[in-house]
Amino acid sequence: MTKISLPVNSPMLSADFTYGVATASFQIEGGAEHRLASIWDRFCATEGKIADGSNGEVACDHFNLWRQDIELIESLGVDAYRLSISWPRVITREGTLNQAGVDFYLGILDELKSKNIKAFVTLYHWDLPQHLEDNGGWLNRETAYRFRDYVDLITKAFGDRVYAYATLNEPFCSAYLGYEAGVHAPGIVGKEYGKKAAHHLLLAHGLAMQVLAKNSPDTLNGIVLNFTPCYPASSRAEDKGAAHFADDYFNQWYIKPLFDSEYPEILSQLPRAHHPDIHQGDMAIIAQPMDFLGVNYYTRAIYRADEQQDFVQLPALEPRTDIGWEIYPKALTKLLVSLNEKYSLPPIYITENGAAMADELKDGSVNDLDRIDYYQSHLSAVHDAIGLGVDIRGYFAWSLMDNFEWAEGYLKRFGIVYVDYASQQRTIKASGNAYKNFISSRVAKK
Ligand code: NOJ
Repeated sequence: MTKISLPVNSPMLSADFTYGVATASFQIEGGAEHRLASIWDRFCATEGKIADGSNGEVACDHFNLWRQDIELIESLGVDAYRLSISWPRVITREGTLNQAGVDFYLGILDELKSKNIKAFVTLYHWDLPQHLEDNGGWLNRETAYRFRDYVDLITKAFGDRVYAYATLNEPFCSAYLGYEAGVHAPGIVGKEYGKKAAHHLLLAHGLAMQVLAKNSPDTLNGIVLNFTPCYPASSRAEDKGAAHFADDYFNQWYIKPLFDSEYPEILSQLPRAHHPDIHQGDMAIIAQPMDFLGVNYYTRAIYRADEQQDFVQLPALEPRTDIGWEIYPKALTKLLVSLNEKYSLPPIYITENGAAMADELKDGSVNDLDRIDYYQSHLSAVHDAIGLGVDIRGYFAWSLMDNFEWAEGYLKRFGIVYVDYASQQRTIKASGNAYKNFISSRVAKK
């Protein structure tokens, strides 16, 4: 496929549907010497944690190339840019603002504003200051209050430059991958830790929402959650039960408290030692009203029942992207419809969707037709969900450009723009041009 299109009457072709591209601080910035250390610096420095042994010291050198990158964003014709703030860049060890770090983001936000590009700012995309981890990180309730303090300072400093704030990006990844499976920073392993970390992250979200309501009532304030819909391996009741358990454990755990003020019922089935430490009043703090819900979607997972464990995940089916994730757009429609049925949701933005593909730069171009296909089928899936009554207001491609893909290092490329890391040259891929043309066809319609 070489182009992206939707039915002419699609609400996603109306001028008020927002299209954007997304990135995150640690994945693109570099400029590590100008900020405090984060848990990802420490994790990268630990032997065997990152597939290619790389780190975020330079990344896409966005720290130096940000002006040129904003021009690139503008050239794609998008309405919005989703970026994250590096907490260790904007605070000092004492918890006061580091003005040089704040100025870096003020430059970016002012530039976006001058180009009429809406800034969707994520306040936490996984780069926890290392000194807070030394104090227990997300296993320590105190970290939630330190997050609140940082959000208070930074939102005052940003004033009216921001269009939307997301408190956290994918708390599942921070909690489960970071403090249970140990495959992300800080690399802690143990079933007893994941839900404790998750609770403190959700508490941090709730406290931050209270600050945002006070400091920034005119922005859209919400959170970004990831969902990997869970399917049973067969129609056997046991497999269905396994998929249901996995869904509660990985997905509903992070959304139900926000809207229903309680954890999924599987809480009572978890061993006491794995329970979060819930203080009186916490659940009410967590369930603050929100202006939007950000949904990140990439793939689904299939589970079967098992005698020893609650569930076992099957290997991903074909077709798969370069990172091994099944391409299954139908699950996105179904997910959006089911969230809409289960919860009383604010408007949804698809804050991330995209694919890692085995791109090749040949004669100055990247002909990533497979990625165009992925965008086509997933944008159609969003269109279908809107047709089924879900209120979706925008869509962000992950990612603006190839970048540091966490434990995979630089080996997996998610960009619609190719990055040659040796020269830091950016090349718009065929998918970037297809996305651009799709967006501009819509604008032409207004
Ligand atoms: C989720 C994360 O928010 C982002 O940082 C990551 O690169 C993509 N998904 C792809 O894995």
